[in-house]
Amino acid sequence: MPVSLGVQKDHGFDDPLGLLFDCHRRIELFLKMLLKVAGDLQGSQLDKQHRDALEAALRYFSTAMPRHTADEEESLFPRLRQMNSPEADVALKRIEALEADHVAADRDHQRVDVLGRKWLADGQLSRPELEELTTLLNRLQQMYTRHIQVEDTSLFPAARRMLSEDQVREIGREMAERRGLKPVEL
Ligand SMILES: [Fe+2]
Ligand SMILES: [Fe+2]
Repeated sequence: MPVSLGVQKDHGFDDPLGLLFDCHRRIELFLKMLLKVAGDLQGSQLDKQHRDALEAALRYFSTAMPRHTADEEESLFPRLRQMNSPEADVALKRIEALEADHVAADRDHQRVDVLGRKWLADGQLSRPELEELTTLLNRLQQMYTRHIQVEDTSLFPAARRMLSEDQVREIGREMAERRGLKPVEL
């Protein structure tokens, strides 16, 4: 599998919900990449292509992914919680489940990271380690399929309807700052 590091961002910080949607495509891509490495090599010696893919995916999930979670938990969800409407109440119930998913995913990602880095360091994984890695990745993929679908098709559209232009601008600014960027245009 070619390593796609330069995934195009379709949206800018002036459209933070669009940016979160784009991040989901990267989550899907890097998770698929990890499953492919595990499936292709079955824990055996890493060649350069698979090593690069493994490193890129582990880097994504240890550095970019926590920022995505923070975008949702610190910038988006609290603003939706403050809304007082039936639509917001429905969204709130979803948010509780989504936050529980974040906690479970974080735990699984930490273990995936340990196993992935062991693979990189030792050159191979034992059969039980490979089985554990594959189980974790399949569980993450199942969880993300459901989680991302709720966010993309339900929560984000509801947020677009409920958030004011100012709130959207503030979320975009916070997301840029979280990445050490200054969105002067915002
Ligand atoms: Fe989420
Ligand atoms: Fe998300």
